[in-house]
Amino acid sequence: MNRFTTRVRAQASMVELRDFLPSVIAVPRLHARLVNTLSRMEYIGVRKMLKARHADLLDEAGLQHIIEEASHALRLKRAAIKLNGGRQLGVQNYSEADTLAGPSGEEYMQGVDRACEALLAPVELDGPERSEANYLLSTAAIEIRADAFYPVYEECLQEAEAGFSVNAILKDELRHLQEMQQSLEVCLPGNWSVMVARAVEAETACFEGWLASIRRAARESLEQVEA
Ligand SMILES: [Fe+2]
Ligand SMILES: [Fe+2]
Repeated sequence: MNRFTTRVRAQASMVELRDFLPSVIAVPRLHARLVNTLSRMEYIGVRKMLKARHADLLDEAGLQHIIEEASHALRLKRAAIKLNGGRQLGVQNYSEADTLAGPSGEEYMQGVDRACEALLAPVELDGPERSEANYLLSTAAIEIRADAFYPVYEECLQEAEAGFSVNAILKDELRHLQEMQQSLEVCLPGNWSVMVARAVEAETACFEGWLASIRRAARESLEQVEA
């Protein structure tokens, strides 16, 4: 999986992200809404796992994954409240007003899911296996992005002395990616890496859409502040 992460880290969109993040981090109330969007995306990850995974295939690592993604959502929510001056009002829920382009976080996750479903359509799998394969493939693509995204974000947080760190989240995401690889090798023997390459390609388009939405929402909010 390392080669995929290395490739994603070198994408132009990641350079764009590195240039863009400091402008949001510099405005704590705007930053709080971005962190709340990230929290929403972690929460969607939990919801997807709960829906997609069949009890017959759910093991200890699967339960731990659910708990850890939920804890990422909570940790980011608390960071958002802290950045919001300790007030819940403004980052209380995942509505559009309380997030930064929150619905685009939902679109990103659904987009990756749909793309993986299409990639798996020609593969012969029974019901629970198909759902499991989709979970593994879409999670792998999203974890690869997380493993590229969080180090860039961490660097920007440290630089700005923003008062919190995402290193603990990153550590979990790196382990999740290893687990996805091990399970994909069993679930899609022979062609798992080709499938991951295609899933990453589809995910990249979804991420670019997400980043464009976040940038637009940040620009509009900053213009409102200045007006
Ligand atoms: Fe996570
Ligand atoms: Fe994860």
